[in-house]
Amino acid sequence: MKNDSINLIEIKNLKKIYNDEPSFLNIKKEAHLVLNNINLNIQKGQIVALVGESGCGKSTLANCILKLINPTQGEILYKGEDILKYDKKQTFNYRKKIQMIFQNPYSSLNPKMKIQETLLEPLEIHKIFKSKKENLNRVCEIIDMVGISKDDLKKYPHEFSGGQRQRIAIARALILKPEFIVADEPVSALDVSICASIINLLIELREKLNLTMLFISHDLNLVRYLSDKTAIMNKGTIVEFNNTQDLFKHPKDEYTKFLLSSIRNIKV
Ligand SMILES: Nc1ncnc2c1ncn2[C@@H]1O[C@H](COP(=O)(O)OP(=O)(O)O)[C@@H](O)[C@H]1O
Ligand SMILES: [Mg+2]
Repeated sequence: MKNDSINLIEIKNLKKIYNDEPSFLNIKKEAHLVLNNINLNIQKGQIVALVGESGCGKSTLANCILKLINPTQGEILYKGEDILKYDKKQTFNYRKKIQMIFQNPYSSLNPKMKIQETLLEPLEIHKIFKSKKENLNRVCEIIDMVGISKDDLKKYPHEFSGGQRQRIAIARALILKPEFIVADEPVSALDVSICASIINLLIELREKLNLTMLFISHDLNLVRYLSDKTAIMNKGTIVEFNNTQDLFKHPKDEYTKFLLSSIRNIKV
């Protein structure tokens, strides 16, 4: 793996507080601390897993990195630059470099658009190539890479299976050759057999494209199989961050030990 020591993403003392609006029964505004002093580094070429129970703040952290929501405090550095200080143009360029894969591919695929249009759209918005022909060549290249036939480009999302739709969503995420992928529970909605094929596709693409990824999951077996490093999150705090193999063999934090005890009887 190249450039191992370069921090592509560096998160420093990140906090997110949601202020719930006062309701009829509850006149006071309640502050809800969802991310509490998060520190996390992701180096180029690494897959870092983020693990934790539902509601612990994983998606909130992902959405901060994707600049979909603003944190209350702290810094998110991309190649040493604070993305929270980016102006419109810098944010536009950042969005080209950072892409996401969601649990439900429908959120990244417009049901009214044919797959070809869906894949052409980012190339056109970011004016990657000069001609339509070059755009189409890139679409064919990427659709082939994720194992979908070129003949399927004229179809709509509903004409595919869940696994195929996730492959297309992966193609959509990769078409601009991003530097960093945030995958938020990308296989949680899929059947076990399909889940394995999507994970193997991600591993294959990672080798081919030297992808850097934040892989969010609550499936510890999957995380152990896929990731280089693992961050364990509990109630908005990262309680342990270590090389995946070391973390699974020698967990230090009590909460990590608790999570691992739940899979102790499952063969990994
Ligand atoms: N827009 C919001 N307003 C208020 N609270 C929110 C909002 N989004 C998420 N939360 C709360 O933040 C916490 C973390 O949510 P989330 O990041 O989605 O967790 P996870 O992805 O780990 O399941 C939850 O308690 C959730 O209810
Ligand atoms: Mg989530």
